[in-house]
Amino acid sequence: MSTAMERGFAEKLTVQLHTRILGKPLHFFPTIDSTNVYAGRLAREGAIEGAIVIADAQSGGKGRLGRSWVSPPGVNLYLSVILRPSVPATAAPQLNLLAAVAVADAVTEVCQLSPSIKWPNDVLVDGKKVCGILAEMQTDAGALRAVILGIGVNINAPLSAFPEELHDKASSLLLVSGRAIDRSVFTASLLTHLEKYYVLWLEQGFPALRAAWEMYASAVLGKRIAVAAPEGTVTGVALGLDDDGALLLRGERDGEVHRLLAGDVSVIGGYDRGEKDDPRR
Ligand code: BTN
Repeated sequence: MSTAMERGFAEKLTVQLHTRILGKPLHFFPTIDSTNVYAGRLAREGAIEGAIVIADAQSGGKGRLGRSWVSPPGVNLYLSVILRPSVPATAAPQLNLLAAVAVADAVTEVCQLSPSIKWPNDVLVDGKKVCGILAEMQTDAGALRAVILGIGVNINAPLSAFPEELHDKASSLLLVSGRAIDRSVFTASLLTHLEKYYVLWLEQGFPALRAAWEMYASAVLGKRIAVAAPEGTVTGVALGLDDDGALLLRGERDGEVHRLLAGDVSVIGGYDRGEKDDPRR
């Protein structure tokens, strides 16, 4: 990735972005360890809500559960937004769900693809993961100070950018659509949708977003799934989301409705349209 091209991304995005809150200011780096780490530092130093860090490449991209995130230069989006919602810390994980819907909207709008969401927040196309989201909280005496909402989208990465063990699980928008996607157009669309949902969420709470999330998760709802949750693996039928974003599952052992707040979902017997499990496990 040449510096000129990368400057093009930052400059074009600045021109194309018409958000009110998100991207003011916008910090752009050719290479950084992790946009989440840098944005976390900025937030601790008092950065305002809406500040965004974007990097062309990450040397230490962070995934969920301590994993790394493949972050080659010149092709993808690595973005972290600083948010300071006035909500209890327990509501912060809902931002994962909100971000997944915004990414899915951008994928639909810009790429004319049909993405799906795997709870809580992986965005898949044709069963392969094209986006990962990592929301990290900063609290003070239990009160929420900031959320660093990190979003990684595989936009134009070639298959060779992924380690071989991910070839059947991870993909990019280029690979699934057959055409190169303009990173600045995609990012402007994503941030526009993210801001729209964020404002809606602040005003009306998660129930206002539930239908949008469930529409993208229709490949899983009503299906038999297994959720590897911290309290153990639960198997049953996915019913939908509760008012706070918890996954509701009718357990097949006890027939009870379980509320799951965290965990990894796999669809028993596979997804419709040949969709597969999480790329990195
Ligand atoms: C996942 O494991 O699915 C979450 C991946 C999150 C990756 C993004 S890329 C931008 C931001 N910076 C990071 O270091 N991680 C997130």
